[in-house]
Amino acid sequence: MQIFTKTNNLIKYLESISEKQIGFVPTMGALHNGHLSLIQKCVKENDISIVSIFVNPTQFLEGEDFEKYPKKIEADKKICSLAGVDILFLPTADEIYFEDETNILAPKIKGYILEGYKRPGHFNGVLQVVLKLLNITKADNAYFGKKDAQQLYLIKKMVKELFLRTNIIECDIVREESGLALSSRNAYLEQSEKKDALLLSASLKKATQIVSKGEKDASKIKEEMLKTLKTIKVEYIEITDREFNKIATIQPGNTRILVAAYVGLTRLIDNIEV
Ligand code: PAJ
Repeated sequence: MQIFTKTNNLIKYLESISEKQIGFVPTMGALHNGHLSLIQKCVKENDISIVSIFVNPTQFLEGEDFEKYPKKIEADKKICSLAGVDILFLPTADEIYFEDETNILAPKIKGYILEGYKRPGHFNGVLQVVLKLLNITKADNAYFGKKDAQQLYLIKKMVKELFLRTNIIECDIVREESGLALSSRNAYLEQSEKKDALLLSASLKKATQIVSKGEKDASKIKEEMLKTLKTIKVEYIEITDREFNKIATIQPGNTRILVAAYVGLTRLIDNIEV
């Protein structure tokens, strides 16, 4: 596995190996089995696989956890190398960002609902860095998790609307046996908070059960989910179609149920497709 820290060196190297199919997995590190599932798929499906680890400053809002975002670089290198990754890209911020630079803005509506409503401007930063990384790597295929469903949706939308050449591959959410969706931020949870963290996936499971029994009324489903989540601070429960339009009635096969909540000081998100 080759490690690059300089953007221009990576670009030059990739120019020298043209004609290969390139797969790419962007991450912020502190890799877990969720990331690993994307990496393994990428390695399997491409000639050259690239993983980036970059805690992107522009997607964190003032007062968020940028400074204390978990870092496990040595373990991450091992995980990537064992998984058969060819190239690990570890840029510093000045390898990615410029003074007074050109900016891309997230869509005014879909970029400012749900996660974008609670974290205004977050998706500007996400799209800015993903666009740069797709251009640097010239990836044929890039892999993203459904764990961050709105992020994935907005990236697909950007790729389509800016006529980018990368295929965006959607990957399923990897969960602990308990149901908890894996996340780098789970590292913040105290042992005593783990039980509460399970409530997010439990509420989604409950929603699926209610739907499978024939309930289609979104507000009734939300009400039931709230009962499960009553001991934690819910930020939102939303039921949308797959394009993130709010719906009042479940559309089987075209529905997404999303939840965000605080467990102690840790903000967690989860979602499910029904
Ligand atoms: P990060 O949170 O490190 O996630 C990197 C990728 O792993 C994302 O596509 C995310 O959806 C996926 N992922 C995380 N947990 C997962 C799980 N439990 N199951 C499946 N996939 C999972 O998302 C980001 O970084 C950043 O916003 C990034 C896209 C790298 C831009 O900075």
